[in-house]
Amino acid sequence: MEASKVPTYNEVALKMNAPIYTYYASRIHAKTGITSGSCLDVGCGGGYLGLALAKLTDLEFLFLDQSPDMLRHAEENIAAGGLKARAQTIRGMVQAIPLADASMDLVISRGSIPFWEELPRAFGELHRVLKSGGYAYIGGGLGDPLTRDAIEERMKREYPHWQNKKHKPPRRDNQHYADALAAAGIHPSSVTRSDEGLWIEFRK
Ligand SMILES: C[S@@+](CC[C@H](N)C(=O)[O-])C[C@H]1O[C@@H](n2cnc3c(N)ncnc32)[C@H](O)[C@@H]1O
Repeated sequence: MEASKVPTYNEVALKMNAPIYTYYASRIHAKTGITSGSCLDVGCGGGYLGLALAKLTDLEFLFLDQSPDMLRHAEENIAAGGLKARAQTIRGMVQAIPLADASMDLVISRGSIPFWEELPRAFGELHRVLKSGGYAYIGGGLGDPLTRDAIEERMKREYPHWQNKKHKPPRRDNQHYADALAAAGIHPSSVTRSDEGLWIEFRK
């Protein structure tokens, strides 16, 4: 994302996209059952998904992004949420995560995976930093269909000039992701695409 668009992205995420993050945070909470330990939010942007999950759990968070502008917003949002005691930011790429092996209980990510290059390497890194028994829940979407439609409508009204098409990555199909997971030696894994987005899950 162009640096000039980052402040608007953060504004929209805080102002109208909160239900999306709450929705996926509840799903992650229900599906993984992981409520304590360490969680890495990859391609975190302003940290919205992890911050929503922090409200449901006692997890400690590391927010990783390649963009210093996004991380600045993540730091502001962490402070505004009163979560400084259990959240830190770290700059890095998913393809070379600057963390020790087996250091995370949970890895989450939303809206970042379409931008990742070298997918087998990226998935291998997520797997490497997970502890044995850890869970990866990564993907993207705009929540349930009703929320999605309401947000899209509001975007058209309030941000008619917002568009990020120039940097929109080409769509990859489920098989592409499944092949990359297999190439990273990750078995089993699931890749699901529905009205609620594309989500990939695996355990270590
Ligand atoms: C569309 S934003 C999503 C932000 C946030 N997770 C959300 O759900 O709103 C994509 C984010 O992924 C980050 N990103 C893209 N490729 C990345 C990579 N290879 N490694 C780390 N971060 C990456 C971008 O800097 C950006 O903050």
